[in-house]
Amino acid sequence: MAHSNPTALRRAVSNIYLLWVILAFPAVWLVFSAVVLRARLPYLEWTGVLSCWLLIAALAVTPLQLVFGALPWLRQRRRYLGVASFGYASLHLAVWLSNARPGAFLHSFVRPEVLPGWIAIAMMLPLALTSSNLAVRRLGPAWKSLQRWVYPMAILTLLHWLMTNKDWTMIIVYTGPLILLMIWRVWRRQRRAGG
Ligand code: HEM
Repeated sequence: MAHSNPTALRRAVSNIYLLWVILAFPAVWLVFSAVVLRARLPYLEWTGVLSCWLLIAALAVTPLQLVFGALPWLRQRRRYLGVASFGYASLHLAVWLSNARPGAFLHSFVRPEVLPGWIAIAMMLPLALTSSNLAVRRLGPAWKSLQRWVYPMAILTLLHWLMTNKDWTMIIVYTGPLILLMIWRVWRRQRRAGG
């Protein structure tokens, strides 16, 4: 009996379905509160920020490994964080479309603060579609090249965030540590390359 709890915990931590339930929970709750409870909450902001948090978490895995050593649990789940980020971005788009006036859709492509969001989600789509094990195997080295799109995509997302929210304090709090880690990673690589 004394051994069963740690085993159950270990099973729960490695259970992919449980992770998906946790990742999907805010989405289910948001849809439920909007559709069933008819609550009026800032859905556009919340879905956008949730998507950004998950993207930040996915991007943080490699630099965190450089600091703390191999983090296999996190590395194996990075793809799911990326897919969930795409899921929340899609929800964000759905929320926006559901409230957009006729004409706003076409106009959104020439709005400088929204256009980076469109390009970012367009870049997220192939990344999410090729996230399965089968796609990783089929694409081979091309999969890694495709994954590098995540960096320009993240910059466009950051631009969209900065341009749509006047209060940059929280944006700096959320993205600052990751940006510093990435700068450190590039600096480290260049110093090594320089011998
Ligand atoms: C698909 C095209 C997209 C459209 C049409 C769109 C539209 C918008 C609009 C209109 C706002 C302004 C909300 C307001 O000020 O009330 C906004 C904010 C935001 N969007 Fe998007 N967006 C798109 C893609 C994305 C993507 C891909 C992400 C994240 C990966 C994202 C994350 C955010 C965030 C974080 C905010 C600011 C929320 C806040 O702090 O107030 N958006 N978006």
